[in-house]
This record gives sequence, structure tokens and C-alpha cells, in this order.
Amino acid sequence: MEILRTAAEITRFAKAAQQAGKVIGLVPTMGALHEGHLTLMRAAKAKCDVVIASVFVNPVQFGPNEDYDAYPRRFEEDCRSLESVGVDAVFHPEPKEMYPEGYGTYINVESDFTRKLCGGQRPGHFRGVATVVTKLMNLSRAQEAFFGQKDAQQVLVIRRFVKDLNLQVNVNMVPIVREESGLARSSRNAYLSEPERAAALVLSRSLRKAENAWKAGETDAESLKKLVREEIQSEPLAEIDYVELYSFDELKEIQEVRGESLLALAVRIGKTRLIDNIIIG
Ligand code: PAJ
Repeated sequence: MEILRTAAEITRFAKAAQQAGKVIGLVPTMGALHEGHLTLMRAAKAKCDVVIASVFVNPVQFGPNEDYDAYPRRFEEDCRSLESVGVDAVFHPEPKEMYPEGYGTYINVESDFTRKLCGGQRPGHFRGVATVVTKLMNLSRAQEAFFGQKDAQQVLVIRRFVKDLNLQVNVNMVPIVREESGLARSSRNAYLSEPERAAALVLSRSLRKAENAWKAGETDAESLKKLVREEIQSEPLAEIDYVELYSFDELKEIQEVRGESLLALAVRIGKTRLIDNIIIG
């Protein structure tokens, strides 16, 4: 596996693959890789000739009081994982390589839905994500890019700017990978103490409860959200940031679940903010 650290290096690699007629797949990550990330890599391997992963803790998507400094970094271990699933190259730049002195261009998705869910609570977050993903798409010359449903709103934001900017990249969404306990895999799970990890199971448990109610015929949006809230409130270590149910494609308010709908939540367990979601309908 090649390790690429500069824009010039990834350009050389991507150009050669492109000239050889290969389909290039891109899997952006911030590292501290787990089974969720590796599932994206496998999906990319299955669909593409050459897979480029990126490992970059992107400073511009973190707010001033967020965990940029504390975010887990373990690049050598990540390289071993990437190699084990057959990734061809990893792009691992320094922040100043991506945002050199004088850097001044940002992608702002101005849409109703960037203000909802995580957009409302993390101002500037999606601007940072859209900016770095655009740069990664350009640098990698990827025709296919892979993202997890774990961050479902992120996928919608990315699909929006790819369409708006006429980027020639197909955006693939891969289902959420969970631990056996139901907990969605996340690099941030590393912050949890033992009792917090047990408390964190309330996220997936509450979603499953709503999903079962929906399967049993409940379609009223308020009732489904109420079920989720009550389950989370029964866990003393958990504090709700949001519990929302929107249409999946545009994040429109809904009274009833008819088409594909996103039931999404963000919950604080101690100091750690975790997200999870399911798509029903
Ligand atoms: P990161 O949180 O490292 O996630 C990288 C990719 O892995 C994202 O597409 C995310 O949705 C996916 N992922 C994480 N946990 C998953 C799980 N349990 N199941 C399935 N997929 C999972 O998301 C980011 O990084 C950044 O915002 C990034 C897109 C790299 C831009 O900086």
C-alpha cells in the first residue's frame, strides 16, 4: 500500500491510475479505523479497480469547543487495517498541506437541511465536511466515493453539492455497522468508560423500539419520536441533543411515515456526543 502525504503525491498516483483506465474509488475517513470504516473499504474494493482511503482529522469541520485535539490518532495501526483489506493507497496529509497559508475557499451547502439535526448544533460543521470532501474528490480523481449511513445527513449534504457543482462522482451509501450489542461503531466510542459504554446501548435500543412499533403499524411521527425519547430518558447517563424524524431525501418535516424516513438522534453520554439513526418506510 502506498502512503501519500502531499497533493503532488496523490495527484501522481491518481493520474497514473486514471491513465491506465482504472475506476478509482475514494473512502474518506478521519482515522482511528474500526469495522465500520473497513466495511466501506470492502464495498469500494468490490466496485472499483483502485481504492484510495484518506486519513485526515479535518480541522475545519470541528467547532471551537469540539474534540479536534482529543480526536484519536493512530496512523500506523490504521495502515495495518487498510492493508489487510487491500486498500491500494492511503492519503494522509498534514493540515497545512490541505489548508496552506492564504487558503480561502469553502463549500457552503445552503439548504434547509444543513440547518437541521447536526447542522443546527454544530455550526460550520458541514461547511468543513463539504470543503474537505470536494478537495479529496478532486485530488483522487475518483469516479466512486463511499460514505456510511452512520452519518446519514452527511451523505445528503455530499449528494447535494456533488449535484450542484456537477462533480462526476457517484456517492455510495453503506449501511451502519454495529457491535453485537447494537452500539453503532464509532471512533468516538473510545472516549466511553465502562458504565458509559453500557449506557450508550440506549441509542440503538430506542431506535429498535421505534422500528418495532412502526412494523406493528405505528406511523405517527410524534408517537414514534416519543417512544425514542422516553427510552433514552430512562437512562440516567444519557442526555438528548435531538430526536428527529424527517423524510430521508430532503429532511422535510413529516407527520406520518409514508416513504423512506430518517429517524435520527444525537445523545450525550457524559462528555461524549454519539449519533445513530435508522431508515424506515
Ligand atoms: P469518520 O467519522 O472517520 O467516518 C468516515 C466514514 O465512515 C463516514 O462515511 C462514516 O459515515 C463512516 N462510518 C463511521 N462509522 C460507521 C459505521 N458504524 N458504519 C458504517 N459507516 C461508518 O465522517 C467523517 O469521518 C468525516 O466527516 C469525513 C467524511 C472523512 C470528512 O472529513
